[in-house]
Amino acid sequence: MNMHIDQAKRILAQNDRGGYTVPTDRLYPFQWNWDSAFVAMGFALYDTDRAYRELERLVEGQWADGMIPHIVFHAPSETYFPGPDVWHTKHAIPTSGITQPPVFAIALRKLHEAAGKGAEARTLPLYEAALKWHRWWYSARDPDGTGLVALLHPWESGSDNSPAWDIALARVPTTTDTLVVRKDTGHVNADMRPRDEDYRRFIHLVDTYAACGWDPAKQWEKASFKVAEIQTTAILLKAGEDLEHLASLFDRTEEAIEIAAFNDRTRKALMAQWRPELARFVSRDLISGEDVEAATQAGFIPLLSLDLDKQVADALVSEMKAWSKDLKVAFPTTKPGIASWEPKRYWRGPAWAIINWLLIDGLKRNGHTAVAEELRKSTLAAIETEGFAEYFDPVTGQGCGGLGFSWTAAAYLWLER
Ligand code: DGY
Repeated sequence: MNMHIDQAKRILAQNDRGGYTVPTDRLYPFQWNWDSAFVAMGFALYDTDRAYRELERLVEGQWADGMIPHIVFHAPSETYFPGPDVWHTKHAIPTSGITQPPVFAIALRKLHEAAGKGAEARTLPLYEAALKWHRWWYSARDPDGTGLVALLHPWESGSDNSPAWDIALARVPTTTDTLVVRKDTGHVNADMRPRDEDYRRFIHLVDTYAACGWDPAKQWEKASFKVAEIQTTAILLKAGEDLEHLASLFDRTEEAIEIAAFNDRTRKALMAQWRPELARFVSRDLISGEDVEAATQAGFIPLLSLDLDKQVADALVSEMKAWSKDLKVAFPTTKPGIASWEPKRYWRGPAWAIINWLLIDGLKRNGHTAVAEELRKSTLAAIETEGFAEYFDPVTGQGCGGLGFSWTAAAYLWLER
């Protein structure tokens, strides 16, 4: 028996706070949206009841308009900023007011398949929650019907301080109505976290949207940060495929047609973001109207949900190989060696097991099974060497950020099976 499997399960048990899992103790003491979807897939491998609970508890935070918030504050904690008092949202259970990548329906389909006979009764309410959320994405975050969904806050990408936001975020003022009292740097070395200036901008955006009463149309109008983003859109499309599959399985024919239409529009829009000269896909800054050319992992995530021509897939893979050359742990979240590359600072270079998981699935989908297998093995080896860290320095392999991290444990279980 592989002892790391036991350790991974132990971490998930330790981070359980009553049917939901915190990403890690103290640094992230609440339920996070996309973290929970990855965690549910981990649980689905050995405890489907607990996996359903994870998603059910997340949906307790769903808003009437369909949005599933990025944090659900089930129980108070003093170890995190910004807590519920900063967000001023109106939901019965306190939540943040922004969202996160919609991995939920990807997890739900896997869970439904793992649960087998009798699963439908438990899957259906979650399917309905997911459908409401996908409708929210298309109405609130793509009001012009382009097929690409926009983020109004870098935290919505899950890749908080990625170089992808450097130009767009620089336009956001550093002034805030809220006192910024960071707690994260009390838990983790400041060199591994976003900078103070980033935090002031993050909170400026929170203040702005709170002043809009969290109304999506008002936020859209007032947003000083608005990026039609390819990583989130690619995840939405994969989740949309899985949702369409569940709709057909449950004979929800009209809903299946509705979801298929979302998916078709997004498929075409995402493909149009391919830039052969960069050998990557690019996001679009909706305020400047320009491509986001920063070299980050997001440019490769469309592998997950597009069936690419061989020429395009080969070009992506050879670019990925060039970025990974000489690294101890792939895949870097910023192209090594460029000015914005910081191999220990959160989303500005480190390798993350859940990003590798998405890339591995995308590589397999597009016929690059050997490269997928190499990435799978190196992700497992990084965890076995350094433990279940939040992320890894790609140059040294050092485990960084929070330790005993839930989604790294879930990724280990999933990739090891
Ligand atoms: C944080 O607080 O670091 C989170 O990533 C925001 O969701």
